[in-house]
Amino acid sequence: MIELIDVGKVYHASAGDHRALEGVNLRIEDGDIFGIIGESGAGKSTLVRLLNLLERPTEGRIIIDGSDITDYQGRELRELRANIGMIFQNFALFQQRTVLQNVTFPLEVRGGKKEANAKRAHELLRLVSLDDKASRYPSELSGGQQQRVAIARALANEPHYMLCDEATSALDSRTTVQVLDLLAHINAELGVTMVVITHSLDVAKRVCNRIAVIDEGHIVEEGKTADVFANPQSDVTRELLDWGYKRTDTPDGKEEVVRD
Ligand SMILES: Nc1ncnc2c1ncn2[C@@H]1O[C@H](COP(=O)(O)OP(=O)(O)OP(=O)(O)O)[C@@H](O)[C@H]1O
Ligand SMILES: [Mg+2]
Repeated sequence: MIELIDVGKVYHASAGDHRALEGVNLRIEDGDIFGIIGESGAGKSTLVRLLNLLERPTEGRIIIDGSDITDYQGRELRELRANIGMIFQNFALFQQRTVLQNVTFPLEVRGGKKEANAKRAHELLRLVSLDDKASRYPSELSGGQQQRVAIARALANEPHYMLCDEATSALDSRTTVQVLDLLAHINAELGVTMVVITHSLDVAKRVCNRIAVIDEGHIVEEGKTADVFANPQSDVTRELLDWGYKRTDTPDGKEEVVRD
């Protein structure tokens, strides 16, 4: 289980400070496919990058499987990251390595034996139906195939969690469905808990059992996917679902969501 307790994040930049998250409280249960939806700049990527400490929170605590990971360093941090696979919109494969070598990479980092690593990588490639492409290079694969290699690589260390940041945004709709179904299969068969960031309501609807809606760094709504879609509680969610709400500027320069 992942718990965020009063988590905040301020980026310090030369142009000034920017608050990306504030007062985030969230609980992601084992077995969830948990969606995080929101507009561009809402703080979605920041939120998931906190979970494997690619970013550090500036406030609050992050608890994973009962341990406070917020200040992890060194070996604890490496073990945390091995337990949390991550995939990205642009696949982030190593272009100079073959498909097989991409999947063995995390195993090599952990120091496994070459033969055992290759055996494990072939198993993972079979899981994503790409064993026949083992000796190809990423540039020789379609986008959907590259994402499946990235999924196999993310699973190499047998993580309990997987973070997916807009993992299907670069794919056409048919390929998106294939990749989403693969993620659902991995969740069901391997018990991997997933955190899925998306700006697509269709993606959230297809795979997520729960979703949180984030707006300007705040969680504005959280619940079972079907409930949120059927009965959105916040105006921001209604706007996102295109329920006849829109964002507008108030006279004092703030933004609010009003009926269209
Ligand atoms: N390293 C950084 N330094 C300064 N500001 C940042 C940094 N990373 C993100 N931000 C700012 O924090 C806010 C949230 O960014 P984030 O990437 O989390 O949004 P997002 O919801 O993932 O957006 P998108 O849907 O476009 O990917 C944005 O205003 C962004 O400009
Ligand atoms: Mg993002």
